[in-house]
Amino acid sequence: MPKIIPSLLVTNETDFESQIKSVTGLVDMIQVDLADGKFVPNTTWPYQEPQKAQKHLENIDFELHLMVEEPLKIIKQWINHKRLKRILVHIESTNDIESILSEIKMFHKEAGIVLNPTTSIYDAEPYFDKIDSLMLMGVKPGFQGQAFIPSTIDKIKKVKEINKNVFIEIDGGVNKLTITQIARAGADVICPGSAVFKGDNIENNITDLTNLLTA
Ligand code: DX5
Repeated sequence: MPKIIPSLLVTNETDFESQIKSVTGLVDMIQVDLADGKFVPNTTWPYQEPQKAQKHLENIDFELHLMVEEPLKIIKQWINHKRLKRILVHIESTNDIESILSEIKMFHKEAGIVLNPTTSIYDAEPYFDKIDSLMLMGVKPGFQGQAFIPSTIDKIKKVKEINKNVFIEIDGGVNKLTITQIARAGADVICPGSAVFKGDNIENNITDLTNLLTA
């Protein structure tokens, strides 16, 4: 059964703090979106204030989703955080993904590649044996609440056909309507954003998604 790692895409400290508090104890890990307003047309608060954001992350394990033009610069700001488990880097954001993956692993953190919806899985294939995770975007990155791109399902299946050991995360458009087909296709992790944080009962949202995974 895929693991649920809620995705936090926030533009202020209040939302960041309240969303972390709302899922602490309900999930093992969260995903923090770092967006620089250049790689994607949105800027997130944790990107703008890394030191302040890191203080809110002392009590929960997290992974970082780097939607930035300078991944190495951001990695250096975050790499020593004791609760940081994994860093996910867009292959589209660098022409030297291999050295970035090595840099992350030198600090004993898991390293993953992220592919935008229009990027071919074959761009990442040469690194399948070097990564701890392959995250496939189900939406064009930058914002929450977008519609899931159906061709993502075929990408999951194709990756698993090529190498069943690749650990696949799906991020973007994961919700009650899409979660079952995403899980059936072979995803190991799903990263819902608005499906968890929208509305006033976050715990129920997580329970509903979990129940759909176990149905
Ligand atoms: C999209 C982000 C996603 C987003 C998912 O740019 O990388 O992590 O938070 O939000 P939903 O689940 O609402 O598509």
